[in-house]
Amino acid sequence: MGFSSLCLTFVSMYILSIFVLFHLVVANSLQSYTTACHDDEISALLQFKQSFVINTSASGYKGAYPKTASWNSAWNQTSNCCSWDGVECDENTGHVIGLNLSSSYLYGFINPNNSLFRLVHLQSLNLADNDFNYSQVPTSIRNFPKLRYLNLSCSVFSGVVPFEISQLSELSSLDLSENPDLTGYFPKFNASSSPLMSLKLSFTSFLINLSSLIEDFDSLKELHVSECNISESPLPFSLGNLRHLTYLDLSSNNFNGQIPSFLKNLTQLTYLSLFGNNFHGSIPSYLGNLTQLTYLDLYDDNNLSGTVEFHMFHKLQNLTYLDLSENKLEVLTKSRFLNNATALPKFEYLRLGWCDIREFPNFLRSQQTLQTLDLSGNKLQGIVPKWMLNTSTQTLTKLNISHNSLSGFEQSPAVVPWVNLRWLDLSFNMLRELSPSPSTSILYYAISNNKLTGQVSSLICNLTYLAYLDLSNNKLSGILPQCFGNFSTMKYLNLGKKFI
Ligand SMILES: *[C@@H]1O[C@H](CO)[C@@H](O)[C@H](O)[C@H]1NC(C)=O
Ligand SMILES: *[C@@H]1O[C@H](CO)[C@@H](O)[C@H](O)[C@H]1NC(C)=O
Ligand SMILES: *[C@@H]1O[C@H](CO)[C@@H](O)[C@H](O)[C@H]1NC(C)=O
Ligand SMILES: *[C@@H]1O[C@H](CO)[C@@H](O)[C@H](O)[C@H]1NC(C)=O
Ligand SMILES: *[C@@H]1O[C@H](CO)[C@@H](O)[C@H](O)[C@H]1NC(C)=O
Ligand SMILES: *[C@@H]1O[C@H](CO)[C@@H](O)[C@H](O)[C@H]1NC(C)=O
Ligand SMILES: *[C@@H]1O[C@H](CO)[C@@H](O)[C@H](O)[C@H]1NC(C)=O
Ligand SMILES: *[C@@H]1O[C@H](CO)[C@@H](O)[C@H](O)[C@H]1NC(C)=O
Ligand SMILES: *[C@@H]1O[C@H](CO)[C@@H](O)[C@H](O)[C@H]1NC(C)=O
Ligand SMILES: *[C@@H]1O[C@H](CO)[C@@H](O)[C@H](O)[C@H]1NC(C)=O
Ligand SMILES: *[C@@H]1O[C@H](CO)[C@@H](O)[C@H](O)[C@H]1NC(C)=O
Ligand SMILES: *[C@@H]1O[C@H](CO)[C@@H](O)[C@H](O)[C@H]1NC(C)=O
Repeated sequence: MGFSSLCLTFVSMYILSIFVLFHLVVANSLQSYTTACHDDEISALLQFKQSFVINTSASGYKGAYPKTASWNSAWNQTSNCCSWDGVECDENTGHVIGLNLSSSYLYGFINPNNSLFRLVHLQSLNLADNDFNYSQVPTSIRNFPKLRYLNLSCSVFSGVVPFEISQLSELSSLDLSENPDLTGYFPKFNASSSPLMSLKLSFTSFLINLSSLIEDFDSLKELHVSECNISESPLPFSLGNLRHLTYLDLSSNNFNGQIPSFLKNLTQLTYLSLFGNNFHGSIPSYLGNLTQLTYLDLYDDNNLSGTVEFHMFHKLQNLTYLDLSENKLEVLTKSRFLNNATALPKFEYLRLGWCDIREFPNFLRSQQTLQTLDLSGNKLQGIVPKWMLNTSTQTLTKLNISHNSLSGFEQSPAVVPWVNLRWLDLSFNMLRELSPSPSTSILYYAISNNKLTGQVSSLICNLTYLAYLDLSNNKLSGILPQCFGNFSTMKYLNLGKKFI
């Protein structure tokens, strides 16, 4: 596996960042600098540039390019480093205060004596998504007493993070995530004087002895500690004093025990992800009091059990993302409170897979903003009710009702009503008819392991974007429509034995 594959976040941000890049370029060319930059800083930047090779394997993000390549080494009186790509100067003093060389194909060691550390006025430093070849984070970081923003994510650092980083008394945002070889104890910050607001340590290997570090961090708003190699253990810290916390990601760590009760105190939370742990017990009712939540993920690998009155989420009026899938929960959706359309959040992403649900939840009637709906692995039986076909007709892109006991649609139109549907999984049911047909927008269509009989309708020829089609384990027969030879987009096709 190449290193760049670890940095998937960059790839998915590609489109957005093209847009951002465009704006940066425009903004840069309009800016004129009255103050020239200082000679010593120009030479520090040029020496920094010389200390690395440009290596296109060093950055994973598709919009990466070598920002330092345009830095002009034939500098003279009129060349101004303040207009160089990624360099920001103070307008009054001309000192370099910002350096953003994220995704710049930089490859090589960064030593404590690197000329970078002569840029003592830096307030912002972004070296994310490069390859520093397992360098240690240099102790000379202490040369930047004014640093507020430091981003070294996904750039192949290793070893212990130096104590000096905790002495940066202005630091408010620190991102060391996606450096899996960072190890050891994370240095202790002074919680009462540090202005740290955002701490991102996801996908590192720090022994999370964060307890003493973060417990009293009044200023902290964002904490990302996903995939930190924590082996099975109860949560080693309480965050109940972090009253300003808005973003908490503890996912994929193997924490066990109950869902931590300190969450009760975190009433400002908008984002809470606990997925991929091994939490036991029931979903505590106080989660229903965290009224600012927009995102709540309790998916997978957790062993949560007991019954959940879906009505418990009615106070979370801003909740758009909810995932309770793949636990051992019994989700009850028949409460009379749920008949009141105004009483539930407007979901965009709702996953209730394997939740022991026995009927299509009535509250879905009034959900008109769903993009993803997952009801797979439940105990739905009989027909898909007519009203389901009026739910989120404009917005739904992904529907999964596989692994139930559905036998058909109450009123089967020729084509499903979800005009933007891309993903439809109906497999492992008891469907008898290959109808309704997915809308033409479909990319993924699975209806294997049902009781389909008869011929494949030529309507399937209208699905011109289809990339994945699984019709296997049915009783289809007859002649395939001719178009099957012409699907140019198809990547996976399984028609079952009868046809082959
Ligand atoms: C480019 O970087 C990769 C690691 O990211 C390394 O394996 C490779 O040897 C480098 N190539 C050159 C020419 O330095
Ligand atoms: C200074 O460098 C710029 C390019 O950065 C070049 O266009 C200009 O001619 C140079 N001026 C002198 C006096 O050499
Ligand atoms: C750094 O530059 C990248 C483009 O290369 C941009 O997307 C990002 O927003 C910039 N970050 C900061 C903190 O300026
Ligand atoms: C990267 O590290 C390897 C192993 O220590 C070394 O052989 C290689 O020269 C280094 N490459 C650069 C560009 O620093
Ligand atoms: C910088 O430090 C490295 C080792 O840390 C050393 O090999 C190199 O000679 C030093 N360079 C300068 C210019 O002092
Ligand atoms: C650090 O940089 C990466 C890559 O540009 C970006 O995805 C991430 O959001 C940045 N972190 C912070 C805290 O800005
Ligand atoms: C932490 O900061 C406070 C306030 O500035 C100061 O009084 C205290 O001595 C510091 N503690 C340590 C251990 O440096
Ligand atoms: C919740 O906050 C109170 C202070 O308001 C504190 O005494 C208590 O210990 C906190 N609870 C937890 C579980 O941290
Ligand atoms: C939720 O908040 C209400 C009103 O503030 C309070 O009465 C109730 O006890 C809280 N429920 C839980 C489970 O904390
Ligand atoms: C929902 O979000 C809006 C805008 O961000 C905010 O004003 C409102 O207070 C939030 N609602 C609740 C119930 O927290
Ligand atoms: C529906 O819920 C809203 C908000 O919770 C409430 O104001 C309204 O009275 C309820 N309507 C009925 C018929 O229960
Ligand atoms: C399928 O495509 C044909 C020809 O392009 C068109 O006449 C027909 O209306 C389409 N059927 C549906 C259900 O979209």
